[in-house]
Amino acid sequence: MSLEAVTHAVNVRREGNVLVTLDQTLLPNVTKYLDLTTAEEMWEAIYSLRVRGAPAIGIFAGYAMAILARQIPESDFDTFYGEYRRLSDYLNSSRPTAVNLSCILKRMDKVALENRDKSREALLEALDAEAKAVHEEDIAMCRKISEYGLSLLKNGDGIITHCNAGPIATSRYGTAQGPFYLAKEAGVDIHVFVDETRPLLQGARLTSYELTKAGVPCTLICDNMASLVMKQGKVQAVFFGCDRIARNGDVANKIGSSGLAIIANHYGIPVYSFGPSTTIDFQCPTGEQIPIEERPQNEIKELFYEKPMALPEVACYNPAFDVTDHSLLAGIVTERGIAYPPFSESFAKLFPEQMKEADHV
Ligand code: MRU
Repeated sequence: MSLEAVTHAVNVRREGNVLVTLDQTLLPNVTKYLDLTTAEEMWEAIYSLRVRGAPAIGIFAGYAMAILARQIPESDFDTFYGEYRRLSDYLNSSRPTAVNLSCILKRMDKVALENRDKSREALLEALDAEAKAVHEEDIAMCRKISEYGLSLLKNGDGIITHCNAGPIATSRYGTAQGPFYLAKEAGVDIHVFVDETRPLLQGARLTSYELTKAGVPCTLICDNMASLVMKQGKVQAVFFGCDRIARNGDVANKIGSSGLAIIANHYGIPVYSFGPSTTIDFQCPTGEQIPIEERPQNEIKELFYEKPMALPEVACYNPAFDVTDHSLLAGIVTERGIAYPPFSESFAKLFPEQMKEADHV
């Protein structure tokens, strides 16, 4: 597989009234696309992480609503909209932390309401167009984010990344992983240390897969090896994605991100989080208000093992995300540039319209 084949791979697409998505739970061993048509199948695909990564979930949700809207029987607008909202709220209940899901569902909802006086076909076409626009905008945002991220890299750098913020988690390039592909293209010599990312192994199964296929030099490590690798001087920066950014710069990302940032700060290594503006929750003041998803216990004890690795009566706690305090971040890389602390001031400069809109809600 070439660099371009990885960065341009399409993991979510629409084929008529079918939502086609790569089943990420089967990687790296099996490449299988699923044809989804019902709300239940779509909910399950998000819940089970067949489609995952904050921007990819948003793109998926846009297409999902455009397709599901066409299944609603012909009726007056209020009856249509009642059913439309039921489906939208149902999809929104699949995973709570990544704000892209609710952000894109709200955006689609707005389009439905704006077109309430149009014909049914015109309304459905407006939803189709919005879903397509969400996808195209994500491609452009990921490219810009990757370019800004590249400006942070120099020859000889080692970078640690956590979870997966690559093409598979977005539309193209990825966010925190995007700079690695651009570095490869530009001939900047870097080495990526990939946290395996317990318990669902997004680093091992997805990130090391994508980087290896693209020819980006990388080494897989267990999450608890990060401190040693940093102490050995092999790491000059930490890059990870995000699922929701609060206005003060607190960042929710895959569980383990916060610990990694604390260790990096101990060694004086800069930590950058990467995300498009669709991942900034302008209405969320701090990380305290970000809902943290809790997942089933069997993901810790059983999944990926041949036999259970703890007694059945052993209790597990499985939060899927944590919040990295803004004080631990050197910067947040967005499509409009790198936000530096104090983040609320940088966001106000980079995203004045969104900040103003949030203030008026
Ligand atoms: O549970 P996941 O695999 O959906 O978690 C994903 C992450 O934490 C990513 O880092 C984040 O969504 C950014 S993807 C560009």
